[in-house]
Amino acid sequence: MEKSSRTLKLGVNIDHVATLRQARYAPMLNSPNAEPCVLAAAHEVEAAGADSITVHLRLDRRHIQDRDVFELKEKIHTKMNLEMGNTQEILNIALKVKPEFVCLVPENRREVTTEGGLNVFNADTSLNRTIDTLRDAGIRVSLFVDPEPKQIEAAAKTGAKMIELHTGAFANADVIGGEKELADLITAAKIGHEAGLQVNAGHGITVPNLVRLMQVPHMAELNIGHHLVARGLFSGVGNAVREMLSLMSSYDEIQCALSAESSST
Ligand code: PXP
Repeated sequence: MEKSSRTLKLGVNIDHVATLRQARYAPMLNSPNAEPCVLAAAHEVEAAGADSITVHLRLDRRHIQDRDVFELKEKIHTKMNLEMGNTQEILNIALKVKPEFVCLVPENRREVTTEGGLNVFNADTSLNRTIDTLRDAGIRVSLFVDPEPKQIEAAAKTGAKMIELHTGAFANADVIGGEKELADLITAAKIGHEAGLQVNAGHGITVPNLVRLMQVPHMAELNIGHHLVARGLFSGVGNAVREMLSLMSSYDEIQCALSAESSST
């Protein structure tokens, strides 16, 4: 896949490659049998055309480990997007790793995956301090937010340059790509773009719901994990990435058609 032929970029979240490794090898990560290899997965998705590698270093270290993050940063060929909760422990690691991007997410210990967006609207000063610290270290910061106008407006007042719209409500709506959830994303993307933020999106994106999601304007990057790793079990993760990228390559065309339609009405 020619990267220059498409504007919508793909970050592949490889946390669940580590989830599988940890399920068997958590107590013996130095074993020569410890698999699957997270770095090999990163190289496979990069070879298939992924633009960046996303990993979430959780406080409970349930999947990605500190050493994964350091090794990936050294050996991947694209860029690293480190997802993290706003804690001093993980911030210290981020400052050592120096990923190209950090996406700040809320993190609850008992959740299965990131459940909601950050509450930027009611955030205390520590969120701004963390954004400033990361920015001063040369790291571009993204805030993972629900598609709510007040959250996007609040995000634009921080030093963050990007938002990642939480697409979970859209992805998990009863009907594939629920109308209201899609409308919320469209509104949020417009507000973010008008406020000068780079608008990314992620969570629960699949081949079936991507077609509807591409109605959302101004998106620069999608972060997709579970679906690609799950599909990879059957078709190979590289093929899963290629299939996703091939669908994503029609984003500009879809957006052109939508804007032509709205200017003719
Ligand atoms: N973006 C963020 C901020 C996330 O927390 C996750 C889940 O780790 C993803 C994207 C990817 O979501 P999924 O695995 O459902 O594709």
